[in-house]
Amino acid sequence: MRRYVIAGNWKMNKTFTEADDFISDISEFIDDNEEFMDDVEVLIFPPSLYLELATDYTDSTEIFIGAQDVSSHESGAYTGEISAEMLNSMETLFCLVGHSERRKYHYETDEMVNAKVKQLLKNSISPIICIGETEKERAENKTDEVILKQLKGAFEGIDFDEDTDIYLAYEPVWAIGTGKTATPQMAQEVHALIRKWIKERFNEKISNDMPILYGGSVKPENIKILLEQEDIDGALIGGASLITEKFKAMITTAIELKK
Ligand code: PGA
Repeated sequence: MRRYVIAGNWKMNKTFTEADDFISDISEFIDDNEEFMDDVEVLIFPPSLYLELATDYTDSTEIFIGAQDVSSHESGAYTGEISAEMLNSMETLFCLVGHSERRKYHYETDEMVNAKVKQLLKNSISPIICIGETEKERAENKTDEVILKQLKGAFEGIDFDEDTDIYLAYEPVWAIGTGKTATPQMAQEVHALIRKWIKERFNEKISNDMPILYGGSVKPENIKILLEQEDIDGALIGGASLITEKFKAMITTAIELKK
């Protein structure tokens, strides 16, 4: 039985003090609910500047911290970049890869996503690979084609051993930050397609174990019905994860569903 994953992607938000207040508040909440954390995994992706702060807080708390991006290069003259080795040295356990905002504003290709996944795996960090179609692609009935192309690209040359831990996030681009959410049925269909592809590319166990999160305008009002879908194992939440009360409410829904 897969557990639920509730992940907050802060994007480029919060000052140091705001980050400090948020993590301290959430850590207390998670400590109070520790008994349920075998069923619900809570991840936070702050800006990299705050990774140390967040990781320190969560040393003794069941919250896991990840970076929002990583360099596709190993090391060297890449001003402004952060390597997977550096993230690992800061005890970062997870990293988002291929978020649609990186693909759109920073021209990330499937090849770059693949190189980043390889860097992360080499440094024992679990990638959360984000994939999703644009509004135009959906209107042109190209959703499946786009998803399969992104999957194929991201997993090029990747093999699983017993330590390999990869998550996926289906985030329809048209639903991110727009208030539009895919219907639970629409999301479930794509999640099932993803799981089937993983089974064919790897095997049934890997596909059954792999957490596939949904992202795109998830909020306390719609998270329950999304999590109730068979192949939706959690949510990658942007806007609504910035407000402690909303983030807590969504974790609480996941806990209730597992009871
Ligand atoms: P949103 O962002 O919840 O604000 O739509 C989701 C994401 O980009 O991961």
